[in-house]
Amino acid sequence: MSGLVLGIETSCDETAAALVTATGEIRASIVASQDELHHRFGGVVPEVASRRHLELIEPVVEEALTVAGATLDVVERIGVTRSPGLVGALLVGVSFAKAVSWARSIPLAPIDHLHGHVASLYLQPTNLDPPFTCLLASGGHTLLLAVHDRSRYEVVGSTLDDAAGEAFDKGARLLGLGYPGGRELDRLAAQGDPDRFTFPIARVPGLDFSFSGLKTALLYTVRDLSTKELAASRADLAASYQLAIVEALARRLREAAGTTGYKRLALVGGVAANSGLRAELDGATFAPLALCTDNAAMIASAARYVDPIPPADSLEMDVSPSRA
Ligand code: KG4
Ligand code: ZN
Repeated sequence: MSGLVLGIETSCDETAAALVTATGEIRASIVASQDELHHRFGGVVPEVASRRHLELIEPVVEEALTVAGATLDVVERIGVTRSPGLVGALLVGVSFAKAVSWARSIPLAPIDHLHGHVASLYLQPTNLDPPFTCLLASGGHTLLLAVHDRSRYEVVGSTLDDAAGEAFDKGARLLGLGYPGGRELDRLAAQGDPDRFTFPIARVPGLDFSFSGLKTALLYTVRDLSTKELAASRADLAASYQLAIVEALARRLREAAGTTGYKRLALVGGVAANSGLRAELDGATFAPLALCTDNAAMIASAARYVDPIPPADSLEMDVSPSRA
């Protein structure tokens, strides 16, 4: 492949397009976030997200081409997120990608969003080579993966209830921070004492996680504080709460490495941006900050390792709400 891979991502509330070379250099990566739009609802409203994707998809792809100084003539493959995610949101990206693939005879690779997160590690300059043990922690998923090669991994652990990012977001909401709250909680935690409060780390058998008890523990702690005490303790609460999540994730990732036999550790997904986690696991490989949260460069990256559908058949591709 000498041309470019166009990546398209619309699985949740980011409309994103990117152009990546066959060797994993990012020529353009445009992410139009809808955070502002969903902020007042305290979460993503699927119908609102789909409508905004529809408005943004074409300008975002055009902007990516402009930034890369490219046209569709040099695009050799399109990678689009087809699962998992909000069906109405996925349909916008997939319909757009199918139309371009069919009209311009460009092969289309169906990408699983989670494979995309892992493939954020295959871009330059990280360019990590499997095998490794990977923690994928985002707003929707918390998975431990044995990554065998660039097109194949196995799930060895997952969350039984909330995702780690969801735990961050729910904690942030209890502390009066905005949505999505992970990044703000991270910022607040930096000013707090992580040893002031003790929050539980769930003991779940095997390599799974559970975060729902942690969130309830924070709820009760907040409820027992007076308004004045709460105001004075917010940073300490954030730091202590973050520490409990970080310890749960770090502990299980190290245990998972024992099980997979792959000693190298890597972290991807929105929660991999967390500064506490990055400090705790400083020998591990983290996706670069800009590639932790949803983007299309990671989707284009994954498309390099997935067999594409010939353009004549691309119109048959469908979306799926659950992971591949
Ligand atoms: O990967 P991502 O962008 O979207 C999904 O695929 O879900 O992850 C978003 C999640 C949100 O829950 C957000 O609060 C969390 O990642 N997040 C963080 C940080 N930055 C984003 N959580 C903790 N610390 C951060 N710095
Ligand atoms: Zn994601």
